[in-house]
Amino acid sequence: MDKLTLSNGIAIPCMGFGCYNAFDDVITSAVRMALEAGYRYIDSAAFYKNEPAVGEGLSSYSGAREDLFVLSKAWPSAFEDMEAAFGCTAKDLRLEYLDAYIIHWPGTNDKRRLSAYEQLLRLTEKGYVRAPGVSNFNITQLQQIKDEFGVYPAVHEIECHPSYQQRELIDWCRERQIQIISYEPLNRTKDLSLPAVSMLAEKYGKTPAQIVLRWHVQHDQIPIPKSGNRDRITENISLFDFELSADDMEAIDALETGVKDGLDASKFPAGF
Ligand SMILES: NC(=O)c1ccc[n+]([C@@H]2O[C@H](COP(=O)([O-])OP(=O)(O)OC[C@H]3O[C@@H](n4cnc5c(N)ncnc54)[C@H](OP(=O)(O)O)[C@@H]3O)[C@@H](O)[C@H]2O)c1
Repeated sequence: MDKLTLSNGIAIPCMGFGCYNAFDDVITSAVRMALEAGYRYIDSAAFYKNEPAVGEGLSSYSGAREDLFVLSKAWPSAFEDMEAAFGCTAKDLRLEYLDAYIIHWPGTNDKRRLSAYEQLLRLTEKGYVRAPGVSNFNITQLQQIKDEFGVYPAVHEIECHPSYQQRELIDWCRERQIQIISYEPLNRTKDLSLPAVSMLAEKYGKTPAQIVLRWHVQHDQIPIPKSGNRDRITENISLFDFELSADDMEAIDALETGVKDGLDASKFPAGF
C-alpha cells in the first residue's frame, strides 16, 4: 500500500482501519482480520472503550512494530493530564509508543486545549508519540496551535465523505501540510446507495464502497473504514488495481450536500 509523508517526515499508510463501535472478541478478531488483509494503520481511541481488545488484536501481528501505524485519541477529560491518558492507552494497546496521538475533540476552552497540546508535544519530544495531531478542529483552533507552538498538527482527523466533504477546511490544511484523515468515510453506509456511486460501481466493476474509498485515496485524504466482517474488510482494502478518471472524481465531488452526519464540535462533548 502506498504511504504518504507527514510534515515531520513520518510515513503513514494511505488508508487505515477504524475501530469504533465494536467490542471484545468482535474488535479483536476484526483487527486481526484487518492485519491479515494488509491494513497497517489502525485507528483507535480511549473513548471507544475497547482498547484492551484492540491491543489483543494488534498483539497477533507477527511483523515488525515499525511496519504498523497505530493512532489513538485523547478525550477532553484527559486535557489536565495527557501523560496519564497516554499511559492508559499505551498499556491497553500493549505498545511503547504511538505513531500518532491526537486530541479527539477541541472542547470550548482555549486555555485547556492549548495546555493539552503542549503536553502532547512533550510526549512527542520524549519519543512516546511520533506524530501529534487533532480531530474535529476548526481553522481558528488549528491556527491557534501554530501561533502558540510554531508548528501545525501533523494530522487532522475529520468527518469526510461524498455527502460532506469539508473542501475549504481540507484545502486550508493541505496548504499547511496538515494531513487529512477521513472519518466515517462511507458516511456510515449512507453514501453507498447514492445513484452516482452505484453507476460508477457498475462502470468500473467495483463495489460502491470501493468507489467511495478510492475517491478518498485519490484525494490523499486517508479513509479509515470500520467493518467487523471479513469479506467487507478485504473488499475495502482492494482498491489499488484501478483508478477513477478525473471526470468520475468530479462526479463524486459534485455529491456534496453540506449535511454532516456527526456532532457539532462547538457543542460536543458537553462540559468541556
Ligand atoms: N475522530 C472522530 O471524532 C471520529 C468519529 C467517528 C469515527 N471515527 C473513526 O472513523 C472510523 C470509521 O467511521 P465509522 O465506523 O463511524 O463509519 P464508516 O466506516 O463510514 O461506516 C462503518 C459502517 O459501514 C459498514 N461497512 C463497512 N464496509 C462496508 C462495505 N464494504 N459495504 C457495506 N457496508 C460496509 C460497517 O458495517 P460492518 O461492520 O457490518 O461491515 C459499519 O456499519 C471509526 O471506526 C473510527 O475509527 C473517528
